Amino acid sequence: MLSPTAATIRLFLHVLAATIWVGGQFALAGLVPTLRTVAPEATKPAARAFARLAWPAFAVLVVTGLWNLVEVDVSNTSTAYQVTIFLKILLAVAAGAFTLVHQLGTSKVALAVGGALGALTSVGALFLGILLHTGTS
Ligand code: HEM
Repeated sequence: MLSPTAATIRLFLHVLAATIWVGGQFALAGLVPTLRTVAPEATKPAARAFARLAWPAFAVLVVTGLWNLVEVDVSNTSTAYQVTIFLKILLAVAAGAFTLVHQLGTSKVALAVGGALGALTSVGALFLGILLHTGTS
């Protein structure tokens, strides 16, 4: 069997955190309609329970993301790679901001728009992460 390297641990932690942050949002979105029907009072506590897992995962994404930036040595990459990584970080920051609006917002609009844009920008960051490895300049 192959032996793991520091890059294995770095990308493993980054992708694991991405699965919790992105996958968790979709799992919760799938559960909420049933919760709302069967036990409406459980919806908010369930969302808060997810937030207690999601935000530490987001913190791991940022820390391992910065570690990625150091290891990748972005200054030595193509302009196309640099544009992609810049857009990816922009989407990641937007994902955190929109999700915060969704979580702290008091209006229905903040809840709906924050939630939808938070999920969209999270999926966008995920796609650009894969593009970094598979895209051509
Ligand atoms: C919502 C937030 C984020 C998601 C969903 C995400 C997802 C991903 C994914 C799936 C990869 C590809 C891993 C692979 O192919 O092995 C990746 C790579 C990468 N990510 Fe993120 N990421 C996020 C946030 C960040 C942040 C905040 C940074 C920088 C501060 C960052 C920097 C990087 C870098 C530099 C790579 C390339 C690593 C390499 O080639 O070794 N990511 N990301």
